[in-house]
Amino acid sequence: MRDFLDRSRWPADEWRLTERRYDAGDLGLTETLFAVGNGYLGLRGNVEEGRDSHTHGTFVNGFHETWPIQHAEEAFGFARVGQTIVNAPDAKIIRLYVDDEPLLLSVADLHEYERSLDLRDGVLRRRLLWRTPSGKRVLVESTRMVSLEQKHLAVMTFEVTLLDDPAPVAISSQILNRQDGEDEYHVRHKAMGEGSDPRKAEQLTRRVLEPQTNEGDSDTGRVALGFRCAESGMTLGVMADHDIVTENEFTSRVVTGDDLAKTTYRVAAQPGVPVRLTKTVAYHTSRGVPSRELLDRCRRTLDRARDLGVPELRAEQRTWLDAFWARADVEVPGQPEVQQAIRWNLFSIMQAAARAEGQGIPAKGVTGSGYGGHYFWDTEVYVMPFLTYTTPRAARNALRFRYSLLDAARRRAGQLAQKGALFPWRTINGEEASAYYAAGTAQYHIDADIAYALSQYVGATGDVEFLDREGIDVFVETARLWADLGFWRSEEGSTFHIHGVTGPDEYTTVVNDNLYTNVMARFNLRRAAEAVRTLQHSNPTAYADAKARLSLTDEEVEEWGRAARNMSIPFDEHLGIHPQDSHFLEREMWDLDHTPLDKRPLLLNYHPLVIYRFQVLKQADVVLALFLQGEDFTPEQKRADFEYYDPITTGDSTLSAVVQSIIASEVGYHDLAYRYFLSALFVDLADRHGNTSDGVHVASTGGVWSAVAAGFGGFRDLGAGQWTMDPRLPDDWESLTYRLTLRGTRVRVTVRPDELELVVEDGQGHLAFEVRGAEVVVGPDAPVTVPLDGQGPRLEGEPPSPIGTRRSDGTIISAIVPGA
Ligand code: BGC
Repeated sequence: MRDFLDRSRWPADEWRLTERRYDAGDLGLTETLFAVGNGYLGLRGNVEEGRDSHTHGTFVNGFHETWPIQHAEEAFGFARVGQTIVNAPDAKIIRLYVDDEPLLLSVADLHEYERSLDLRDGVLRRRLLWRTPSGKRVLVESTRMVSLEQKHLAVMTFEVTLLDDPAPVAISSQILNRQDGEDEYHVRHKAMGEGSDPRKAEQLTRRVLEPQTNEGDSDTGRVALGFRCAESGMTLGVMADHDIVTENEFTSRVVTGDDLAKTTYRVAAQPGVPVRLTKTVAYHTSRGVPSRELLDRCRRTLDRARDLGVPELRAEQRTWLDAFWARADVEVPGQPEVQQAIRWNLFSIMQAAARAEGQGIPAKGVTGSGYGGHYFWDTEVYVMPFLTYTTPRAARNALRFRYSLLDAARRRAGQLAQKGALFPWRTINGEEASAYYAAGTAQYHIDADIAYALSQYVGATGDVEFLDREGIDVFVETARLWADLGFWRSEEGSTFHIHGVTGPDEYTTVVNDNLYTNVMARFNLRRAAEAVRTLQHSNPTAYADAKARLSLTDEEVEEWGRAARNMSIPFDEHLGIHPQDSHFLEREMWDLDHTPLDKRPLLLNYHPLVIYRFQVLKQADVVLALFLQGEDFTPEQKRADFEYYDPITTGDSTLSAVVQSIIASEVGYHDLAYRYFLSALFVDLADRHGNTSDGVHVASTGGVWSAVAAGFGGFRDLGAGQWTMDPRLPDDWESLTYRLTLRGTRVRVTVRPDELELVVEDGQGHLAFEVRGAEVVVGPDAPVTVPLDGQGPRLEGEPPSPIGTRRSDGTIISAIVPGA
């Protein structure tokens, strides 16, 4: 395997991400990789001392400022309310001075250094040996964790020991409101820098956080700050407790102001006598509760944390994570680099989603401000499969969050002259926040993506109670949108068309009959009709309620079925492929092979119009439909589609590689599948897209799980409790183990070159799977082993380029690099 990391700095350790050398040159990357979070609260891996950073970052999911979007040219229905996650006051700072000399990692004489994130206990640890300018050696050991059990709590420890001579030591623990990344020395953080990268957060130019309250108690060292966002009115309270333990003499002092709360300890430190500081921090946020009241909540969180104590808080964290790994671990024995990277990816999904309760899952989780902290379809298509099959409680929360946006989505559909509900392409508060409609609002497929995730969740868990009470509304309103948006054409038999939408591929926008959209809308319509009919028989009372609540008629349900059956699915007989949309094949092809690397990604180097004119993809589109609705396509069609689209897919979005890996596996391009898998696996760890500094690519981390379970593991969920397996174990792997929780029973799946083994690890259910066409049933104490004859079809190399072949009109397909 090609190794993407310098192992002298990043040793392969199956349960830890460890950095052996401090490097001020890639702080943006390491701050993201060492971020700790729980889906509600996230702390970037900034150094304790505060100063050296790419971006100081503390994020509370959903805590955002709003601003009026100024369109250069207005039009009806454009998104109005910009929403940007706020970089919250920073409570990570613990500055150290020895002989009044500050510890500053970028210039410090470091004799030893190691930082590691332990994926088993969720604690970030740093240990360093500093030789001060006056030659004294100082051992500094610190830890940081965001509690998974106590949603609002972070726990830090900081321990200083002089090794040689006595010296005055000062430790200054702070909560600092930096006003959107501007640091205390008025240096703007790099993520806000110049340029026009649409993937970064918008820059808020005026003061966002208005100070409301500050308090400090010099007896206990407890300090707090409270703020209100100027426009959104959201409020935040942050409070820190301090506990110092040392045999050295010391004094303490508390100072608070609008933007800074500081607890300082001056210690007459003796050699060999440690100074141990514990700092616990609580964050509470709300849509408008006065911050004083939030500080009461912080007080309760911190009182409880103090009663429990650090060892108990750590033990809780460990227990939480033990349960997580028992449900979710993926094992690839004999491949430590791959193993480590897989676990870091799974850990990152967990950190993005675990306690996101009541909120969505931002594209960057709580590790950075990229994409403004917004929620996209990334959640439903990339993150939810992992949650549904390993941590259904979190999947349910994510769906309930969408349900809570249904009224806003109904209003949005109305603004766009449609019936039903149209979910926002990107949002925090439920309003559409996508200022660029062509690659944003036009992605109506978000409705079907949500319906798909809902269907998958209900099928996998059997949670019909949720479906009957809330989910049904989502099915109905999304189906209505499609039924109303599409229209009938009756020349060659009646077909149902959907025009003027954008599919997942953002390099081709506002098209007619986008294949992905139509295939997913067909599913949405079919599934909604089926859900209504099932409800009618299974729960007449809930059906009657839903009928009244939604003014549902039998005719419209019939109409959904008709639209689904007659959905237009573009197909080119001559090439034997599904065009991405009805005009896709008319476009010229972009020559990616001859496009200079400094022109990639295309979105940062070409005007959108230039890109839109060509057959060139940002990310999997048809190929994603082949995965999500695989039953709708024959194996021959899948192969032909994959071969056609693969050479023209740039993968400029990290949402692409995982999907290409899955379908490459299925159709037989094993080596290519593995290459795509590795590129997704290391997308953040090796900063392969150059923007990990903006935060973790959470969709890709979720996709890594799908690439393992669905790609190599061959798992497919056909709905209604029909689960199939057709594995594709990579050549170099001796085995692959993953876990699925279905209907409350957890099954461990192990794929080996010549067999597949299913073992129930937890729960009492019996589960039926179809393994390459043969039905097997696994139950408690009844493991099953199925012999495997190979790993599916095998195609060598890469798909042939379509360049040089002829279109149906006889013209030759050629490719160019625009402007070259
Ligand atoms: C992708 C979208 C995705 C968004 C957020 C964009 O680059 O094209 O599909 O939803 O990033 O991750």
